[in-house]
Amino acid sequence: MSAIPSVTLPSGATMPAFGLGTWRMGNERGRRKQETDAIAHAIDIGYPMIDTAEMYGEGVAEEAIADALRGRKRDAIYLVSKVYPHNASKLGTVAACERSLKRLKTDRIDLYLLHWRGQHAFADTIEGFERLRRDGKINDCGVSNFDRDDMEEWAALDGGRCGTNQVMYNLARRGIEYDLVPWQRQHRIPVMAYSPLDQGPLLRHATLKTIAERHGATPAQIALAWLLRQEGMVAIPKSADRARVSENFGALKVRLTEADLTDLDRAFPPPKRKTSLAMS
Ligand SMILES: NC(=O)c1ccc[n+]([C@@H]2O[C@H](COP(=O)([O-])OP(=O)(O)OC[C@H]3O[C@@H](n4cnc5c(N)ncnc54)[C@H](OP(=O)(O)O)[C@@H]3O)[C@@H](O)[C@H]2O)c1
Repeated sequence: MSAIPSVTLPSGATMPAFGLGTWRMGNERGRRKQETDAIAHAIDIGYPMIDTAEMYGEGVAEEAIADALRGRKRDAIYLVSKVYPHNASKLGTVAACERSLKRLKTDRIDLYLLHWRGQHAFADTIEGFERLRRDGKINDCGVSNFDRDDMEEWAALDGGRCGTNQVMYNLARRGIEYDLVPWQRQHRIPVMAYSPLDQGPLLRHATLKTIAERHGATPAQIALAWLLRQEGMVAIPKSADRARVSENFGALKVRLTEADLTDLDRAFPPPKRKTSLAMS
């Protein structure tokens, strides 16, 4: 397997550019074993990162990660979790993180994000994040579902500490290339691309299938390789299926050519104007 690419956060820390998403895990009791097994499989084959949130299965996804990590090396995994906006007051942020740590059965979250903008003042959430960082409960912090205006507002308050902005980005939803991606590159803040497979339907696109055939790869691997070749970009495909977890990991071996990229731009044109942020 190729080396896992990484990105550098403004704090100077590095984070893997590829990981496993866990949204919708923990929603159905009957799927718990399969989901835990898929996470454990991801760890065993070398996924270096897992993305989760207190929202996912209302904490059950975090518990599934703890189950999967049992008997495995916690330090080999970069853990990302998120605070609900309604919990993101000064003290609420700290308390929410402590509950996540308990469910994850660990003493540290590598990167802790505000899930989306809510009613609490940014300054209060930032203060909560700072306290968590000082206490060694998180290493880095950041945001999610922020557009460029939100990013500018946050960056004016956080002393340059924003580690990432996690946003919806894939071949079928390229709107952030217009203004958000250039702004984040300029400020050296990596983009975490969520829904990198557009939650599935994208994979039936004829152009993806054609390019996949050229590479002896799958459409999912092409969609992920397109993201991973971009500077400062992180992809976190979710699957609760062992075979797909392996398939998605295989994207790290795919090298797209200039001809592939031209075909992809034709099928999925980059944005020509500002659009509102896509959210799932
Ligand atoms: N910050 C936010 O607001 C936010 C929002 C959405 C997502 N996220 C994060 O980003 C992660 C990924 O996004 P996502 O879950 O929305 O969507 P995604 O990763 O684009 O797609 C996941 C869907 O695609 C299926 N799938 C996965 N691999 C496949 C493959 N190789 N072939 C065919 N189908 C495949 C999965 O089904 P199976 O599980 O059955 O394989 C699942 O239904 C989330 O899990 C979460 O961690 C964050």
